[in-house]
Amino acid sequence: MIDPFGRTVSYLRVSVTDRCDFRCVYCMAEDMHFLPKADVLSLEELDRLCNAFIRLGVRKLRLTGGEPLVRRNIMWLIESLGRRIADGALDELTLTTNGSQLAKYAGALKAAGVRRVNVSLDTLDERKFTAITRWGRIGQVMDGIAAAKEAGLKVKINTVALQGVNEDEFDDLIAWCGAEGHDLTFIEVMPMGEIGDEARLDQYLPLSHVRARLDERWTLTESDYRTGGPARYVTVGETGGRLGFITPLTHNFCESCNRVRVTCTGTLYMCLGQEDAADLRAPLRTGESDGPLEDAILAAIRRKPKGHDFVIDRQHHGPAVPRHMSVTGG
Ligand code: GTP
Ligand code: 5AD
Ligand code: SF4
Repeated sequence: MIDPFGRTVSYLRVSVTDRCDFRCVYCMAEDMHFLPKADVLSLEELDRLCNAFIRLGVRKLRLTGGEPLVRRNIMWLIESLGRRIADGALDELTLTTNGSQLAKYAGALKAAGVRRVNVSLDTLDERKFTAITRWGRIGQVMDGIAAAKEAGLKVKINTVALQGVNEDEFDDLIAWCGAEGHDLTFIEVMPMGEIGDEARLDQYLPLSHVRARLDERWTLTESDYRTGGPARYVTVGETGGRLGFITPLTHNFCESCNRVRVTCTGTLYMCLGQEDAADLRAPLRTGESDGPLEDAILAAIRRKPKGHDFVIDRQHHGPAVPRHMSVTGG
């Protein structure tokens, strides 16, 4: 699958549910309206959809949400897709999780062929964690991360940089991840979903500023390490750990984009920061064969946009895209 800008699409992100057991302040509104259950694809349909993408050239699959592990029977899908790793059709099957259910699932994930998980953790402080997630308990997530490590899964911690909230903890997070052997990425908050202009401005912390601050404290050396995701990595001399920066606002990485995402209702978004989408549920549900589904995917890839138009400043009002991050899972 090659898009109009010559980029090969080989990474599919699948949001298996838009529901979540947390309500992170930068991700969701407090009272969320979720997608109607009748529109949500069954696990069998999601499996078929993923396999169509694999036939068309996807080599890396990431399950996201909402929170992927709150979807009932999710292991059925993960085990089914894990067999595509075993037969060589896929290079990587992984997930991005809030970690709340990880203690329960870590062993099964490893057994199914998952080698790496990304866990969202914005703070190491119990009270701050509850404030950010609106009601989450950090202990549950820490147990999940420990279980993942114990099960032999490689962990990447995702930390959204939030002005005045966790900026005093970046050094502690680097030290903790270094000691635990986890990769860490800092992420710039993106203007998705209506949370109020002032709230977004208050949250936004450019990573260029963060990097300058970190350079004073740590020996950071640019690294060639790549995962196929948007992070650009450095190694931290003092810990030997890897630290990534995801900078949609201060350093756009769309030029090397290799990914598309599909929601749990079968809507394909060719760019995280654009509204243009293609419905895959109709061809999936009406087609006798996968031909119409594959045609719909290829037609959508032919109009993948050049990139997002995210900006956060006083001159811009309203979110760049109205849908919340939890619909597409990043
Ligand atoms: P790795 O395989 O570990 O590189 O994963 P990843 O960084 O691709 O995925 P993850 O789910 O951990 O996402 C980390 C952050 O990157 C989230 O905030 C995502 O929203 C963001 N992200 C992933 N892909 C894109 C993209 O295409 N555009 C933008 N703007 N952000 C993205
Ligand atoms: N901007 C940046 N990252 C976000 N995430 C959720 N909402 C946003 C946002 N508005 C992060 C989560 C998770 C990943 C999938 O995206 O923390 O780690
Ligand atoms: Fe849930 Fe993740 Fe969104 Fe937080 S960032 S509300 S954990 S989907």
